[in-house]
Amino acid sequence: MSRFDEMYERGSPPWDIGEPQAVFVELEETGQITGSVLDAGCGTGELALYLSGRGHEVWGIDFARIALERARQKSAERGIPVVFEYLDALDMKALGRTFDTVVDCGLFHSFDDNDRIRYVRSLAAVLRPGGVYHMMCFSELETRDGGPRRVTQSEIRSAFQDGWEVESIQAKRFGGRTFPATGDGGGARGWLSRIRRV
Ligand SMILES: C[S@@+](CC[C@H](N)C(=O)[O-])C[C@H]1O[C@@H](n2cnc3c(N)ncnc32)[C@H](O)[C@@H]1O
Repeated sequence: MSRFDEMYERGSPPWDIGEPQAVFVELEETGQITGSVLDAGCGTGELALYLSGRGHEVWGIDFARIALERARQKSAERGIPVVFEYLDALDMKALGRTFDTVVDCGLFHSFDDNDRIRYVRSLAAVLRPGGVYHMMCFSELETRDGGPRRVTQSEIRSAFQDGWEVESIQAKRFGGRTFPATGDGGGARGWLSRIRRV
């Protein structure tokens, strides 16, 4: 059982805020999320369900069984179709298909250096050439204790230097309870990246 399973088993982890992160809602509302979508590390499915409700064909994958159960239950209760699959994000080739867009809210920053390389290869197997990967991770500008590994802009650029084009990296804030809004503009500091598969 992974540390993620344990956190879901204990209840609702800090990132599981009962709605999609605002940065992804903004991407969708401004037309930046196109076509079929894979949500890598979908958790309990709020973002995947939101995007399906907006008319996208959406699949979500995660390796935390409890999270997937909750996601499937929400899908049934809300009558919103999403294909939720139990899968290691390091082996997404096993899905046997590609998507126009991959979204990743809080997965990339969970990998160590070796798995980061494997994950980028795995992403290339499920994103069609020309497709876009939107990723939100914790940034090194977040200096408060706790939370996941911090990632720098240069680490993002380095991870995606071959076969990808990093189109933008923007400073954004996460919603959620890890670092509740402090009155200085929001929650944990992150990088929102838009990266195209060449
Ligand atoms: C910080 S949580 C974010 C969940 C969701 N994206 C959200 O915003 O609520 C990271 C998620 O990635 C999943 N995860 C971590 N490593 C994974 C892996 N190797 N394969 C599949 N899922 C993974 C965890 O189980 C967890 O649900």
